[in-house]
Amino acid sequence: MPARPDIEAEIHARLVPFPKPHLLGVEDLSPEEALRLLDLADAFAGLNELPRRSLELLKGLTQANLFFENSTRTRSSFEIAGKRLGADVVNLDVATSSTAKGETLSDTAATIDAMGCDLMVVRHAGEGSVAEVAGAVKASVINAGDGKNEHPTQALLDALTIRRAFGRLDGLTVAIVGDLRHSRVARSNARLLPRLGVKLRMAGPPPLMPENPVQGVELADSLDAAVAGADVVMMLRIQRERMDASVAPSPEAYAQAWGLNRDRLALAAAGAKVMHPGPMNRDVEMDSTLADDRNVSLIRDQVRNGVAVRMAVLASLAARRS
Ligand code: NCD
Repeated sequence: MPARPDIEAEIHARLVPFPKPHLLGVEDLSPEEALRLLDLADAFAGLNELPRRSLELLKGLTQANLFFENSTRTRSSFEIAGKRLGADVVNLDVATSSTAKGETLSDTAATIDAMGCDLMVVRHAGEGSVAEVAGAVKASVINAGDGKNEHPTQALLDALTIRRAFGRLDGLTVAIVGDLRHSRVARSNARLLPRLGVKLRMAGPPPLMPENPVQGVELADSLDAAVAGADVVMMLRIQRERMDASVAPSPEAYAQAWGLNRDRLALAAAGAKVMHPGPMNRDVEMDSTLADDRNVSLIRDQVRNGVAVRMAVLASLAARRS
């Protein structure tokens, strides 16, 4: 492992101001800018392996996390990332917040902003809601998921995870399978990975296919067709909270037709890896033994790399503000 001073020097060398005032979607980054951000995240991943991982790039800055939808990994990952960089991190308790009393999202965000806030991480069920917040505050806003629209830091952490596992992105075939219609993870990945040279395929049950065709993405009509020859198979959760109960498949029927298991993965390229953004329904989207097999599964790497990517985004946005 490189020594701490070398890692710190690498972080400082790779840290450039974020190209936009906010990160609302992956298209806020050109392919070159996205790759530079991944290089910075790689350096942070090195820092995160040290026994003492803090580096005070955000000292004196305040980061507010406003999560109006459930979240385990994204919220804790942003909190850990901010704290590791020395920010004062505040988590808004949404259940008792003023939006629960009828205040608009923008007014709630502007209130937190007026207290002196530099970085604001927002998750909300409405598509475009995070962009609306960005228009109402002085802080730099990061979209942590706006309805079915975008989840840019997830796509960046997926790209980082694939690049760290294979040493490259260019020329790889990635299959994303499952509930494409309701997935902001799929949408952000579809807007990012092909621009980084990935051949992207998608497949899912017909009622859960995307409403609009996705440019540059090949659609397959079965799990087997999507998996054939793929280097990475990313499975998505069925987002029951976003669908009419009448179209929601039963877990058993879904696992039969669309669940990934070892037999089906045998159709993929040699050395293929599996991914899942979480939360995962075990033995529905993917066989437990596959998800837990560290030779095949990158699920834990995705979580680990999520912290590094969020550190890179927070530090770059802060560099733009100073
Ligand atoms: C995803 C989300 O919330 O968009 N989870 C995550 O952030 N890792 C996917 C999901 O909820 O299924």
